[in-house]
Amino acid sequence: MFKQFGIEKPIIQAPMAGVTTPKFIAACCEAGVLGFIGAGYLDGQETRAFIHEARKLTTKPFGVNLFVQEEPRIDTQVLQQARAALQPIYDELGIEGAASVVSRDLYSEQVEVLLTEKIPIVSFTFGLPSEEVIGRFKANGAFLIGTATTKAEALAVEAAGLDAVVLQGIEAGGHRGSFHTPFEHISLFDLLQQVKGALSIPVIATGGIMTREHVQQAMDNGAAAVQIGTALLVAEECEVNAYHKEAVLHAHGSETVLTTAFTGKPARGLKNTFTERLKEEVVAPYPLQHHLTAKIRKASMVQGRPEYLSLWMGQNSHLAKQGTVRQIISTLS
Ligand SMILES: Cc1cc2nc3c(=O)[nH]c(=O)nc-3n(C[C@H](O)[C@H](O)[C@H](O)COP(=O)(O)O)c2cc1C
Repeated sequence: MFKQFGIEKPIIQAPMAGVTTPKFIAACCEAGVLGFIGAGYLDGQETRAFIHEARKLTTKPFGVNLFVQEEPRIDTQVLQQARAALQPIYDELGIEGAASVVSRDLYSEQVEVLLTEKIPIVSFTFGLPSEEVIGRFKANGAFLIGTATTKAEALAVEAAGLDAVVLQGIEAGGHRGSFHTPFEHISLFDLLQQVKGALSIPVIATGGIMTREHVQQAMDNGAAAVQIGTALLVAEECEVNAYHKEAVLHAHGSETVLTTAFTGKPARGLKNTFTERLKEEVVAPYPLQHHLTAKIRKASMVQGRPEYLSLWMGQNSHLAKQGTVRQIISTLS
């Protein structure tokens, strides 16, 4: 499927917003897999600068992943309760709470940038792009990938006219790409079984894939490629902060939780003081909670308090092994 993009192995480096850097993406491309920019938190200008920087480091093609942006409905009572739940942590860290929870429309800016930069592969999470956006990318020759966490979502990705679907199992680190409610919790291999024979577009399996056996099992169950997050998070070239890398390398298993505490959307990461303190509290919907907790994450980095950081990682993070991107990839395929 990905021969057209010049990759040697059916492996995609998972886009990881806030983690992927030009150096890391270039290292993945040079190691023979498909590199992906996680552009979720960037504005248009930052996305363009990132693309230019990556292009200085590799001549190979890479993809860009976008968060399909939704308009949050602001319920002021919920917002006040969510802010109140965070106040003791703001106080403990000696910071002011978030001044504003209003988001800029980053998504539309990013779409324009990807079109002018002629990005050949674009993936989406948190929903489906509009018909208009799909039409414009297709006219520009881009290969489009959607994210699904259920069979119904995968069928919706295909019906929208996208070219491939990332099937994200419940094991996956980071945010769930779910866009149908109520959210379902399905393992990757159950999902692969459920979509067997139901889709005509290629399936990219993701979630908890850390070993050659996992890759083989995904391919044997219908995947055309796999998308790898946590296993590459610990690569030498990955410039994620040291707390995050260490937390993955020291994970023992069964230590991750699905939490809405950091952003308002369910995401899998290390269980820590923050996820536990917020467990029974009111959490504002995405992306309001993301804005409410942004200063906490920033201050805890500066103050060396990883117990309040979002340390996204998959359920199988205990299987992560240090090495260069090339070394890690060679253990997978
Ligand atoms: C730190 C981190 C950040 C992530 N950010 C994104 C993102 O920006 N966009 C996206 O589509 N998926 C994101 N994901 C999810 C990955 O695409 C993928 O589904 C997940 O990493 C697979 O599970 P694994 O971590 O066990 O390999 C992220 C995952 C991690 C671990």
